[in-house]
Amino acid sequence: MRILITGGNGMLGRELVRALAVSHTLRIADLPETDITQVSDCFAKIRDFRPEVILHAAAATDVDGCESEPDRAFRVNAVGSANVAHAAERLGARLIAFSTDYVFDGTAPRPYHEWDTPAPRTVYGASKLAGEEAIRIHCPNHVILRIAWLYGPGGPSFLHTILGKARHPGPPLRVVNDQWGNPTSTRAVAELVVRLLDQPVAGLFHASCEGEATWFEFARTAIAFVGIQREILPCTTAEFHRPAPRPANSRLEKRRLRLHGFPPMPDWRDELACFLRHYPDL
Ligand SMILES: NC(=O)c1ccc[n+]([C@@H]2O[C@H](COP(=O)([O-])OP(=O)(O)OC[C@H]3O[C@@H](n4cnc5c(N)ncnc54)[C@H](OP(=O)(O)O)[C@@H]3O)[C@@H](O)[C@H]2O)c1
Repeated sequence: MRILITGGNGMLGRELVRALAVSHTLRIADLPETDITQVSDCFAKIRDFRPEVILHAAAATDVDGCESEPDRAFRVNAVGSANVAHAAERLGARLIAFSTDYVFDGTAPRPYHEWDTPAPRTVYGASKLAGEEAIRIHCPNHVILRIAWLYGPGGPSFLHTILGKARHPGPPLRVVNDQWGNPTSTRAVAELVVRLLDQPVAGLFHASCEGEATWFEFARTAIAFVGIQREILPCTTAEFHRPAPRPANSRLEKRRLRLHGFPPMPDWRDELACFLRHYPDL
């Protein structure tokens, strides 16, 4: 297949390239050559390459940065996604796009499924939700995958930050222990994308790894796995102020994958172990 990857130089984009390069013809659309906020850039890139599938991973992903620059967040995540979706529809490509757990406010007492009503509390979450809506309006032949707590080779990610800190001597690390989510490898997401290429499904799917953890448990598991001797202590969200509020509950139920007969996503602990075996230096 001819596959265009927006944001192909980013953390997830690089993994998609790794997973697909052998069997498909790929082209990357990323800054500075291609800017998805420019409608003419989008159309030109897609018209020239004529992809059968577009994997849309380009985004403004700095959650705290989005909070202070809402116009930039909405320009990339909402207007940019609308441009990509509009061009995909006009030029006959299937669109597989990536969204986030941050579309939810995190107050539910259980994992969120695809029929739960989003209520973002951050500019990042609101701009990604606006991007989802634009994709639904402009390109019926779409799949939206909501992913969460992502890490992959090269980062940047929470995992990279915490292991970087843990490797340097210092006081005990304090990590938030009252926010729950599903740590998810880019590899697991890319594997699902490979499967989706053969399946004519459409619509919204939650697609994080199985199993749940707090940031503290995620960090402690990773530090133990790489064998670093460093004290790590739990703390609360209130003790760790961030410009953008983080949802207390980011857990995603993969209801639609299950109802469509897909196998479960891999368990986060297995994926983390596999990642740290392959990339001990990240
Ligand atoms: N990382 C997570 O924890 C996480 C969690 C849930 C969902 N997601 C979603 O997963 C997707 C991939 O995330 P990621 O972690 O791979 O992000 P990333 O590493 O920040 O990659 C995004 C890529 O998009 C590029 N980009 C930004 N603005 C652009 C524009 N106007 N035109 C073209 N390209 C542009 C970035 O370039 P620059 O680096 O030059 O800006 C970067 O190469 C995103 O949709 C994100 O919202 C991520």
